[in-house]
Amino acid sequence: MLGCLLGPRTLVLLPRLCSFPCSSLLSLSKDTFIRRGLGVLKMERSLEMNGYEYKRCSFLVDWDDEDASLVRKFQLLYYLEDDTIELYELRKNKGARPRLFLKRTRVAAVNLGAMHVGSTFNVMGRNMRISDFADEFTRNKLGKLLQWFNKSPDDFLPLYLKRTFAMLKPDAMDQSDEILNLIKDHGFKIAKMKTVSLDRGDILRLYKEHEGKPFLGFLVNYLTTSPCLAMELVADNAVSRWMEFVGTTDPERARVDAPGSLRALYGRDKGYNAVHGSNNEEDSKRELDIFFPSTKVGNFSPPRTSATLEGTLCIVKPHALKEGHLGSILQEIRKGGFRVMAMQMFYVERVNAEEFYEVYKGVMPEYAAMVDELTQGACVALEVRYDADVGDSHSRFRELAGPRDPDIARHIEPSTLRAKFGKTRVENAVHCTDLPEDVVSEVEYFFLMLQ
Ligand code: GTP
Ligand code: MG
Repeated sequence: MLGCLLGPRTLVLLPRLCSFPCSSLLSLSKDTFIRRGLGVLKMERSLEMNGYEYKRCSFLVDWDDEDASLVRKFQLLYYLEDDTIELYELRKNKGARPRLFLKRTRVAAVNLGAMHVGSTFNVMGRNMRISDFADEFTRNKLGKLLQWFNKSPDDFLPLYLKRTFAMLKPDAMDQSDEILNLIKDHGFKIAKMKTVSLDRGDILRLYKEHEGKPFLGFLVNYLTTSPCLAMELVADNAVSRWMEFVGTTDPERARVDAPGSLRALYGRDKGYNAVHGSNNEEDSKRELDIFFPSTKVGNFSPPRTSATLEGTLCIVKPHALKEGHLGSILQEIRKGGFRVMAMQMFYVERVNAEEFYEVYKGVMPEYAAMVDELTQGACVALEVRYDADVGDSHSRFRELAGPRDPDIARHIEPSTLRAKFGKTRVENAVHCTDLPEDVVSEVEYFFLMLQ
């Protein structure tokens, strides 16, 4: 997950930060955490750039000068080697050089752990507020480390707890909403997910231990009929806990031995048994690597989410996922007469969020906040199709989503998704494509470009 947040070049950070146990990772102060992270980046960068080492982070800072009734703007440089700062006032006249306002000095209230956008600190009696990162290094590296640190302990789970591979088979897909709610209620966190259309080769790879078994032909037919949902689940002892929750291979037996298990609830018989789980840690690693390869090198075309371009785009926003609404939102979508054609979890990078929301730039006052929200954590993109009439999916789905503002939605359309799961105009549970002519490009943005 950190790899997704920081990009492949900084994957080197993962093993280093994670080489100490979870409790000590969580108990690190923010400042130490960031320093260790930046320390690793520094080593990586100096290797990469042949000796080049960064020395400072750079921010844009506002100061409300009440005496003069104006907001003065500064560039703040934070020198990492000695924790000193330097301030330059940015001047309004075009081309005017920034003026040195505070020469390099140590300021007690300022520390690296507090340097995030929106934070306020006191410099020589003046309250200053960081309005943005001022260079790409600060934005991409420090910004993401801070973003990561500020997440709840749950977001650290993939790093130090065990994970396992899980899959809903085609016969369980119509109840995926209910099953996702049960998965959440059983304490599993979904770190990755995507719908996959499997072919024979994928199934032979997944079930390689069954080579030559009489039921292999059945399995190939069963699992290639329609998409499955592949997931990386995270929890303490994930492998054994998932196996227990899945239940024994034969659902008839599971209904006797473990009536609360998924196969007891959703399986039909020994063949059509609704869910898959990895047998042990080793299988789980191998299977996760088939479905969610960490590198494209040597990647033998893993199964991909199928985008049919028959429906319209819905994004379940990060706040709604964090609040545990995914299963319930999917339930409402199904009850509303829609079929989910493709579904995938994404960790959207800022540059992509800006690009995706570009049409709202300068039009919607919430543009910047929308970009922030979409990059706050995982979101789930769905391609949804109105079952009764393919052509009408776009307008029907907009009706189901409801007015952009959840407060208005609760007054005039209380049965809509935003009325039920939205909080504010930015945290309004779902994004849906506004204009019919943008449907294809929005579906493609997630299901083709971001793959
Ligand atoms: P998975 O989680 O899918 O791996 O199931 P499992 O570990 O409980 O069972 P196993 O690995 O032994 O078998 C893999 C899958 O093949 C099963 O889940 C069934 O879908 C199918 N299968 C296994 N045994 C039989 C059988 O005797 N007849 C039929 N028709 N299918 C079988
Ligand atoms: Mg098995």
